[in-house]
Amino acid sequence: MIHQFLAPNTNLRTDEWGGSVEGRARFAVEVAAAVSAAIGARRTGMRLSPGTPYNGTHEPDAEPVSTHLVRRLDDLGLAYLHLVEGSRDLTDVLRKEFHGTFILNPAAPATPGFTGEDTLSLVEDGTADMLSFGALFLANPDLPARLRAGGPYNTPDRATYYGGDDKGYTDYPTL
Ligand SMILES: Cc1cc2nc3c(=O)[nH]c(=O)nc-3n(C[C@H](O)[C@H](O)[C@H](O)COP(=O)(O)O)c2cc1C
Repeated sequence: MIHQFLAPNTNLRTDEWGGSVEGRARFAVEVAAAVSAAIGARRTGMRLSPGTPYNGTHEPDAEPVSTHLVRRLDDLGLAYLHLVEGSRDLTDVLRKEFHGTFILNPAAPATPGFTGEDTLSLVEDGTADMLSFGALFLANPDLPARLRAGGPYNTPDRATYYGGDDKGYTDYPTL
């Protein structure tokens, strides 16, 4: 819902909750402020996917919208920003704007198609404070231990994604 407010092809409002960069970001800022007021900003984080076309969103101005939003989230002192990477350039821009913990779900290379251990250097070179893994963590319930050991890894099976039962979610073996 927050993303729907941010994207101009899904937010068709003509009041102060739509239109301009500030208007489309308003809902996200208000949600973060309300949650922070209820439980504390240091217990609140937000995950953003600027410029990613999930479920048909189209964001030609993802950079100004997400930059404005991240500045406001930084003002609130949120514990973390978790970014699903659209482009590395935008990642670098938003990294500079946010002073809390910066978690990155890096753009996956075409092969193998999901975030892998090759991205660990992004913490060492300062691109992010922490990395998140989606598919690789599904397939490897003991992923931290495997990363520490340098593998081996079970390969995620796309055919089991979004399947509606536990297959592909809780049945991969540990080392
Ligand atoms: C089966 C599956 C379910 C997912 N469900 C969600 C979800 O509910 N919410 C979300 O923000 N991202 C979801 N994602 C996206 C992941 O969090 C992640 O951003 C994406 O898979 C790319 O990262 P990866 O290459 O590490 O997998 C899902 C991904 C997969 C494979």
